[in-house]
Amino acid sequence: MAVTTQVARGSLQYEEFYGFAQSPFTLAPDPRFLYPSPSHEEAIRQLLQTIKRREGVAVLSGDIGTGKTTVCRTVLEQLDMKLFTSLVLNPFLSGEELLREILLDFGVVSREAVRSGRIIAASRHELIATLHEFLTSLLPIGASGVLIIDEAQHLSPQVLEEIRVLSNLETNQSKLIQIVLVGQLNLLDLLKQPEQKQLDQRVSLRAVLTPLGRMDLEAYVIHRLSVAGEMGQVAFEDRALDVVLNASGGVPRLINLICDRSLMIGAQSDARVITTQMIHAAVISLGLQTPTRQRQWWREISLGRMAALFDWRRWTNRVSS
Ligand SMILES: Nc1ncnc2c1ncn2[C@@H]1O[C@H](COP(=O)(O)OP(=O)(O)O)[C@@H](O)[C@H]1O
Ligand SMILES: [Mg+2]
Repeated sequence: MAVTTQVARGSLQYEEFYGFAQSPFTLAPDPRFLYPSPSHEEAIRQLLQTIKRREGVAVLSGDIGTGKTTVCRTVLEQLDMKLFTSLVLNPFLSGEELLREILLDFGVVSREAVRSGRIIAASRHELIATLHEFLTSLLPIGASGVLIIDEAQHLSPQVLEEIRVLSNLETNQSKLIQIVLVGQLNLLDLLKQPEQKQLDQRVSLRAVLTPLGRMDLEAYVIHRLSVAGEMGQVAFEDRALDVVLNASGGVPRLINLICDRSLMIGAQSDARVITTQMIHAAVISLGLQTPTRQRQWWREISLGRMAALFDWRRWTNRVSS
């Protein structure tokens, strides 16, 4: 209880205390904070290239919190202005609702028309025909459509079938709409099921985001601190970052939670250096596990023993020679 109250008090002040212009470790998928780890950079590059080449369906997958939504938003920001884009964040919609959402995002129908119920009466066939007509009308100006669906591992078989139909809209030369499915790792299994075979065969890119390793984790933390306006008023101890890695498994969302909490704890004791103890306190107050901590202690002890044994052998050799 005491920890919660202290943290709530700290949360109002630590940005100010360390001179940040904004919170460095927010959980929002804000592209301004994007750190281009090799896996994130490669995924963005591949997605942009697939969209540009209109190669059909692309899949971006990764564990929870690895940065999928952030990557999507970054890709959307970098796309050619000519493209009409639709980012669908709710995967629990029906096939018709998906089509309406896309028409709305592309600006083919107005929000007012949807709200007033005029579009509700349109059949699935009419909605697809309207979309097809619009996409075809873009061809002379070299434009096309891009549909990105987040949390796609939750899509129903009916909607996946709708997506397959959309992926079939094409001219002799290229696709009329580029589709990007974004989801957790089980999305790949979902697409491998026999009933999704047709859609799976249309997938031309499978990009996977991986958690950060130790070097990238450090660069990530420094990057986010500097984007938030850090001016040398706070630093993380090297060993503290080892603990962050251990407790987060290198998953950016968990790194953010731990670093945010440890900065609150640091500010409460006027600390300019975030220590291992502060990270441990943050991890405990967040209720996170450090699964490999014990193992690491063992490793350290065993390494210590090995080193001692090694020195002892050298010493005994020297004595006996
Ligand atoms: N490469 C990255 N650079 C900066 N921040 C990142 C990166 N990857 C993830 N994050 C941050 O981690 C948090 C979770 O990312 P998010 O995109 O929501 O993950 P996911 O969609 O995979 O669950 C967000 O605060 C996001 O800004
Ligand atoms: Mg997400």
